[in-house]
Amino acid sequence: MRRINASIGVDKRLYAEDIAGSQAHCAMLVAQNILSPEDGEAIARGLEQIRGEIEAGSFVFRDEHEDIHLNIEARLAELIGPVAGRLHTARSRNDQVATDFRLWVRHAIDRLDAALRECQGALLGQAEAHADCVMPGFTHLQIAQPVTFGHHLMAYVEMLGRDRGRFADCRRRLNESPLGAAALAGTAFPIDRDRAAAALGFDRPAANSIDAVSDRDFAVEFLAAAALAGTHLSRFAEEVVIWSSDAFGFIRLSDAFTTGSSIMPQKRNPDAAELVRAKTGLFNGALIALLTVMKGLPLAYQKDMQEDKVPVFEAADTLELCLAAMTGLVRDMRPDRERLRDAAARGFSTATDLADWLVRTLDLPFRRAHHITGEIVRRAEARGCSLAELPLTELQAVESAITDAVYGVLDVERSVASRASFGGTAPPRVREAIAAARRKYLA
Ligand code: ARG
Repeated sequence: MRRINASIGVDKRLYAEDIAGSQAHCAMLVAQNILSPEDGEAIARGLEQIRGEIEAGSFVFRDEHEDIHLNIEARLAELIGPVAGRLHTARSRNDQVATDFRLWVRHAIDRLDAALRECQGALLGQAEAHADCVMPGFTHLQIAQPVTFGHHLMAYVEMLGRDRGRFADCRRRLNESPLGAAALAGTAFPIDRDRAAAALGFDRPAANSIDAVSDRDFAVEFLAAAALAGTHLSRFAEEVVIWSSDAFGFIRLSDAFTTGSSIMPQKRNPDAAELVRAKTGLFNGALIALLTVMKGLPLAYQKDMQEDKVPVFEAADTLELCLAAMTGLVRDMRPDRERLRDAAARGFSTATDLADWLVRTLDLPFRRAHHITGEIVRRAEARGCSLAELPLTELQAVESAITDAVYGVLDVERSVASRASFGGTAPPRVREAIAAARRKYLA
């Protein structure tokens, strides 16, 4: 029973939040004349001493005291005697743990927001340095149209911006204080829930005492946001793996973010990126674990809910680690501008530009232009040359009205420069997007 019941090994991480919650509760009890100022003073001093002991590493956590709440309460009794027992007036471990956990998730959100912002900053730096560096854009991992390296990186700045938004939404909804809900029904003592809520930085007390102690939707939302952020990071990690491979050679990573092989001396393995790619499994698992714990639980508190902490702690730690790794990777990577440009010119990547030219210059319907371009691509393929290298006579054999003005749209720089629609890849647009993102995300 002790082994399955004890959660102290996991929930000792809540010690700072537990002490803060107890101090706010204690001060409120004194203000409401439920607790004498002397007793309140003794409790507050005892709690401070316990915080010092835990931070110094001298506090002894005991399984027989089950969880962080009872461990601290037991130590408080050792330090200040029976008056320690007055702290639990008008409170239950149910509203206590719900409060602690909300505070912990709130802190985690603030740390993750800073880490996401940092990663955006690193992406913006690289995007700025390579706003006009032409690379192939892909669909189906086939070369599609030329884009710029900066534009491609800015896609991730947007994704991480929405991830920050999801965490911020979660934070807004979770920021209500369960304290005073007590076991589930509220309390007969004349407490002041607003006061305790304000002392802990909550926006207001939670409106329903049963809901306050029995839902963990804030933790589920946190895990959902983490899973999605992890998914974004895994997509970027996968691109780093592909880009840094010999076959692509789009970027180079330094020794700081790669490892050698124990047998093949030439290897530079992108382990950091591979590990970020793999951690997605943990985030998704954590989300499903907690959803499954909560499914079908009758109101109000059930001990099942003690299982909420492992997935949340693991996901938060892992996401912080992944963000640190990705931020480092982004700063570390060096694009090979020449290889990127050469690759962008392969695969007839300006075929759409040719079709667009036929529409604009010869006023052909797009479908017809598409068909003509297909035929021209086949001829280039047969000759083993690029579109720009096809002689005009070959082009005119397919469509007699084509003039040599068409060559103006067939090189990749012009292609990129022409995509100047809002949100497009033309370098001036990319630079505008970078400036806007700096104002929006880094200000
Ligand atoms: N360790 C418990 C948890 O994390 C604290 C709440 C216990 N409440 C109770 N009524 N047994 O859920």
